[in-house]
Formats: sequence, C-alpha cells, structure tokens
Amino acid sequence: MPDSTRPAGPRPPSSVLVTGAAGNLGREVVDRLRAHGVRVRSLVRHQTPPRAGVESVVGDLTDPAAVREALVGIDAVFLIWPLLDSASAHAPVAELAAAAPRVVYLSTTAIDDGAARQSDPIAQVHMDVEVLLHEADLRPVVLRSDTLASNARGWASQLRMGDVVSGLDIARTAVVDERDVADAAVAVLLAHRPDQGVHVLTGPEVLSRAEQVAHLGSALRRRLRFQALPADLARSRMLADGRPEPLVEALIAASVRRPESNRVTDHIERLTGRPAGTFAQWAVDHAADFN
Ligand SMILES: NC(=O)c1ccc[n+]([C@@H]2O[C@H](COP(=O)([O-])OP(=O)(O)OC[C@H]3O[C@@H](n4cnc5c(N)ncnc54)[C@H](OP(=O)(O)O)[C@@H]3O)[C@@H](O)[C@H]2O)c1
Repeated sequence: MPDSTRPAGPRPPSSVLVTGAAGNLGREVVDRLRAHGVRVRSLVRHQTPPRAGVESVVGDLTDPAAVREALVGIDAVFLIWPLLDSASAHAPVAELAAAAPRVVYLSTTAIDDGAARQSDPIAQVHMDVEVLLHEADLRPVVLRSDTLASNARGWASQLRMGDVVSGLDIARTAVVDERDVADAAVAVLLAHRPDQGVHVLTGPEVLSRAEQVAHLGSALRRRLRFQALPADLARSRMLADGRPEPLVEALIAASVRRPESNRVTDHIERLTGRPAGTFAQWAVDHAADFN
C-alpha cells in the first residue's frame, strides 16, 4: 500500500557506489548501507575479501573506465577524493555527469569560502572537486568533515613502544567521530529528498592533539603525552616511515597554514537526529585498536 504521508517525488536510491570503501570512513558507510538493505558496490584499488551484499569493482578513482564500469545501474555515489591533485578528477567527474547519480561528496571543513585560493593545499583540492561537481551539474550534497577521530589510529604503533605520541602539531579542530560522519552520509544518500548544499560536520568540542592524546590515555588507563615535532623533524620521520613526499609536504603545509577553528556545528544532529559523539567516547570504544 502506498505511504500517503510521503511527498511524491523520486524514489530513494536502492543501489549505492561507495568509493574509498576499504578506508576508515568508507568501511563504516558500507556497513550502514548494508544494514539498510541497500545494494552496495565498492570501488577499491585491491580485491578485498567478499562481503555479503557487497559487489566490488577493482580500479582506480582516476581511471574513467573503472569509474564508468562501477557506475552501471547505480542510483547514488558516496564520493571521496583522496588524491592530492584535482586535475585527475576531470575525467571521473565527466563519467559521473554522464551517469547522473545522486552524489554525496566528502569534503573538508578546512575550506575557507572567503578565499579564492586556499592556502592549505588539501583544502584547495577539495574545493576544486566541489567546483567540478557543481560545474558538471551534478548538484552534489557536500559534507565538509572536520578531522576524523579515526586518524588517531595512526598513533597505535608509537603507543606500542611507549607513552609518547610525537608528530606535527596541527591547529585545534572539532574532531568528529567517523561513525557519525558515516551516519550523516547514509542519511543523505538514502533521503527521499536530500537537502542539497553544504553540511559542516564537526564533533562537539574543539581539541588540540595534546588533548586528544590525553583522552586516549584515559581510555587506555595510561599517562600518555603528546610531543610536538618541528616541521623538519616531522618531515624526515614521515619520509622514513614510507609516506609519499607530496603527501608529507601537503600535511606540513596544512599544519602550518590551517588556521585555528573554533567552529562546532549541530549538522550531525540535524542529519542523523542524534548529537555528535565525543572523542573521549571514540577512544573508549576503540581502546582495543591500541593494544
Ligand atoms: N581523515 C580526515 O581527517 C578527513 C577529514 C576531512 C575529509 N577527509 C576525506 O575523507 C577521505 C576518507 O578518509 P579516511 O580517513 O577514510 O581515509 P583512508 O582510511 O585513508 O581511506 C582512503 C581510501 O581511499 C582509497 N584510495 C586512495 N587513493 C585511491 C585511488 N586513486 N583510487 C581509488 N581508491 C583510492 C584507499 O584505498 P587503499 O585501501 O587501496 O589505500 C583507501 O581505502 C579522505 O581521503 C579525505 O579526502 C578526511
């Protein structure tokens, strides 16, 4: 029987393509879509173990043929752009425009709308991709996310060696739980009529790295501390860890140029119906990842 309380309009998507599906955020998005009974296709660079209800296409986001194949029969796309250049986004965005699915793009709160050029190179790439999607007439829903709590997993190896986390000291941000971002993404992916435009997704409090490390210490019942490294030392450590040089330079530029942000929004709650979780709770829930 039809639901007479529902406004008439296009049906919510029933098949969704998830890019970055093997990543910290993408995994959470896939899990939630499956829980909603949605047909999920993932675009991954390497074959992953099969998962019930998830079909995968192996390919690179910059490869238009792989993107075209991944889009066949798809109603909506959860799009990330994990690359450091936006020039390679033109061809895949053209494929998206040809297939015309609903597009939910995961961008960053680091974008300064008042600046024509972003001083932070990572923000510039996200801004370029947002513009490309608009110019392609895809009318994307843009989710600008603050720093994901899951980035803290990168500290696990240091914490197996001792009680100090050392690294670049980036400006304080309203760290957001990736599970909340995934809930928000799924809400707009599956909405009957998603609110197009920009949603700014933050956690409930602005935290420095030292404060995050302290919260993690409480969750692990250890006295942990953060040690800020000068850029030169952080650069040589990251290169020695095998991180690609362009990424290292972009991270250093972002750490130096990204301004302090005190912005906390309620957009997670508006999209999901629940307030955003704290980093302290994220740390409790993920304590086992640091053993
Ligand atoms: N982390 C943050 O604080 C933050 C904040 C705002 C926005 N974002 C955006 O959100 C995205 C997802 O974040 P995350 O923490 O989930 O990242 P993540 O864990 O590093 O996952 C990124 C995923 O993208 C895949 N990938 C990388 N390059 C690709 C390519 N050329 N073609 C196809 N797939 C590719 C990776 O595949 P492999 O598994 O093969 O490496 C990985 O699965 C970021 O890339 C960034 O654009 C992140």
